[in-house]
Amino acid sequence: MDTWAYADTVPGPLLEARAGDLLRITLDNQLPADTTIHWHGIALNNAADGVPGMTQNTVLPGGRFLYEFAVPDPGTYFFHPHVGVQLDRGLYAPLIVTDPAEPGRYDSEWVVVLDDWVDGTGRTPDQILRDLTTNPSGTPGGMGGMDHSGMGNPPFGDAGDVAHPHFLINGALPGAPVSYRGTPGERLRIRIINAASDTIFAVALGGHQMTVTHSDGFAVQPHDTPALYVGMGERYDVIVTLADGVFALVAKPWGKNGQALAVVRSGSGTNPPADIVLTELSGPILQGTDLHPAEASRLPDRASDARVDLRLGGQMNPYVWTLNGAPFGQNSPLTVAEGQRLQIDVTNATMMSHPLHLHGHTFALPNGLRKDTVLIPPMGTTTLHLDATNPGDWAVHCHNIYHAEAGMMIALQYLQG
Ligand code: C2O
Ligand code: CU
Repeated sequence: MDTWAYADTVPGPLLEARAGDLLRITLDNQLPADTTIHWHGIALNNAADGVPGMTQNTVLPGGRFLYEFAVPDPGTYFFHPHVGVQLDRGLYAPLIVTDPAEPGRYDSEWVVVLDDWVDGTGRTPDQILRDLTTNPSGTPGGMGGMDHSGMGNPPFGDAGDVAHPHFLINGALPGAPVSYRGTPGERLRIRIINAASDTIFAVALGGHQMTVTHSDGFAVQPHDTPALYVGMGERYDVIVTLADGVFALVAKPWGKNGQALAVVRSGSGTNPPADIVLTELSGPILQGTDLHPAEASRLPDRASDARVDLRLGGQMNPYVWTLNGAPFGQNSPLTVAEGQRLQIDVTNATMMSHPLHLHGHTFALPNGLRKDTVLIPPMGTTTLHLDATNPGDWAVHCHNIYHAEAGMMIALQYLQG
């Protein structure tokens, strides 16, 4: 069965722009299905956001659609369809917005896209979603069946819902990994994007400390760590100073077997084995919510004008995931007036972590950290603040694509007048 991709590569071709650029991109749909493109993390105009039923109609097979939008903020982003579970095909690609005022404390860049892979291994994502919906406990040993028997381990609880058989970095399996070639002493900026549908990864580069510099495009106070977690839809930029040799970049899936591998070469040597165990991944691993914002990334100090609750609910059996007590279509939109500072009080009433993603805006966490996607741990709570400066109808949803499709989405609407 055929994999679906952008321009026949996985990941799709890198799109690069400068902050302030106006992009004009025509989607030419040669898939045998309706689709759209969503430009994940970009504070763009609502009409270009790619959400069917909210900002546009789906683009039919053979059809075209022109996306036209400015990219206001530099950073690491990606794009993917916003129809069904198409994200779990090969349909994703990086979108990098460079900063004309970049302080440039690094020499080179490498974009690293993580994925969990199931399409083409015997079942399509659509078949898997159907199985989850009709037979949530899964067939023993089958691909649908992850164990959801308890609370799982801290910090993220139960693993995802799908036992993906493979994990990829830049489209490659660990047996034939992609390599980055550099030189000792080089300061390499790695832009990490988690394009997986159902998998949180812990990421480390063997033999190196990483300095985390950006989260979801926005600068953070530089933070050194041997390893960090990356949830679905999250992006982190890290800088490493390359040692001399051959090193494994490993992405280990939370609660699942196997791993993704890429290689950094700054000297000679053979490739690490596909199942290499990095000591960096057995010690403490940084959670993004422990980062602090750079001063320039903070929202201005201001009291909230309005407050809403957002309650994450659902379970495996029946396979229904909800926001504010009902699946998308049956829940009432969140509302805000243009110009308001909105406070969203989030409660996760489930045993799983959910990467909560907001379109068209970047919110601030309680410590001021700016993000557009944040992992909410099992039974966890947090508060988000956003400035309502981008009118339209926006999606708020879990970036586990199976959860989003099973209802874990809600609209954020700007009130008229
Ligand atoms: Cu990348 Cu609506 O999501
Ligand atoms: Cu979820």
